[in-house]
Amino acid sequence: MKMDGRLQLLQEEIGLQHANLVAIAENIKLSISEDIKHSYVYALAMRLLNLAELHFATEEELMKIIQYKGLNEHCLAHKTIVLALREKITVLTPDMETYYDLVSSVNDWLIEHMQQEDKVLTEHLDSCGYKR
Ligand SMILES: [Fe+2]
Ligand SMILES: [Fe+2]
Repeated sequence: MKMDGRLQLLQEEIGLQHANLVAIAENIKLSISEDIKHSYVYALAMRLLNLAELHFATEEELMKIIQYKGLNEHCLAHKTIVLALREKITVLTPDMETYYDLVSSVNDWLIEHMQQEDKVLTEHLDSCGYKR
């Protein structure tokens, strides 16, 4: 199958975004296990939210181009993740409990989503012969 230029670019972006999301999530985990600065944790959480939103838009554009049959379900999962992240950030205070809540939300939603729904999408792309 011939590779569309835009599609290839989107796939590259998605790969980079995934790596960055994991790196920021890891940073949040590290920052709360050390000497905590609330403004730093908050800034990291906001970066994660912004990147997640950008990333979801990228992934959704790709799914539309390939007319992915799981598009609606996948978009719904993205919406749920953004809502959960926003909620955890809204209640973020200099209190360990709220930090742990944020970390477990990131693990439960974002990381798990990448390991499951996103993996299914990648496998679909591979099976259709879209080169990465
Ligand atoms: Fe993703
Ligand atoms: Fe996704």
